[in-house]
Amino acid sequence: MTAAPQKVRNRFTESDGSPIVSASILSADFARLGEDAGEIMQLGADILHVDIMDGHFVPNISMGPSVCAALHGACPEAFLDVHLMVTDPDAYLEPFARAGAGHCTFHTEVASTEALLSMRDRCHDLGMTAGIAINPETPATAIDPVIDHFDMVLVMSVHPGFGGQSFIDKVLAKTRSIAPRLRPDQRLEMDGGIGPANAEEVRAAGCDVLVAGSAVFGSEDRAATIAQVRGHGS
Ligand code: DX5
Ligand code: ZN
Repeated sequence: MTAAPQKVRNRFTESDGSPIVSASILSADFARLGEDAGEIMQLGADILHVDIMDGHFVPNISMGPSVCAALHGACPEAFLDVHLMVTDPDAYLEPFARAGAGHCTFHTEVASTEALLSMRDRCHDLGMTAGIAINPETPATAIDPVIDHFDMVLVMSVHPGFGGQSFIDKVLAKTRSIAPRLRPDQRLEMDGGIGPANAEEVRAAGCDVLVAGSAVFGSEDRAATIAQVRGHGS
C-alpha cells in the first residue's frame, strides 16, 4: 500500500477566480511521465489534470491509482486534479486520495442525485474537493439538483475518452448559462480541445480552470502556450 500522501495546497479553494491552467498528463510522454509532468509545471502550468478512464464509461483505458501515486511522488508539490471518467467512481475515491489526489471530479451521467451527493461528502471526508462533470450532450439542467453542493463544475468540450479532439463550440452556450449560477468559491472548468486559439472564448464564457493536454505538451514553446491559455503574455 502506498504511503499517505503529503498535503498539497488546494489550488481550487484558495483561488480568487484568476485563470488556472490544468495540464492534462494524458498528452505527456508516459515513458518519462514524472520528468515531463515536472517540466510542464516548471514552465508555468498551475496544476496537473489526471484523466482516469475505465474502458466502460468511455471507450479507452488510461491509468489507475498506482500511476497517480508515482506522479505524486515525482511531483510532490503539484496539485492533482483527478478526472474520473468511470462508471463507478465511488470505488476509486479513497484509492485516489491515498495516491495524492487533491480533487476528484466524477460525471453526473453515472449516478443518482443521492449517490452524487454522498460521493461529494466522501471526497470531503478524504480531504479532497469534489467536482461534477457534464458531457457535451447532457443538458445543464441535469446538474440542477447538485450544482450548489460541488466545489467545481466541469463542462466537457469534447466527448470524453481521448486527447487531441476538436473543441465542440456549442458547449459555450451551456457554460454561459451555468457560470452566473456559481458562487465565488466554486470553480468552473472546461476540458477538451482547448488551446491558444480558443482559450479567450472559454474564459469569456466564465471558466476559470482551463484543461489543456495536446496543446501544451505538443507545443514547441510550452511556456508561451501555457501563458496564452491563461491569458497572460499572449
Ligand atoms: C478527454 C480528457 C481530457 C483530455 C484533454 O477525455 O478528459 O482531459 O486529456 O486533452 P486535449 O487538451 O488534448 O483535448
Ligand atoms: Zn479530463
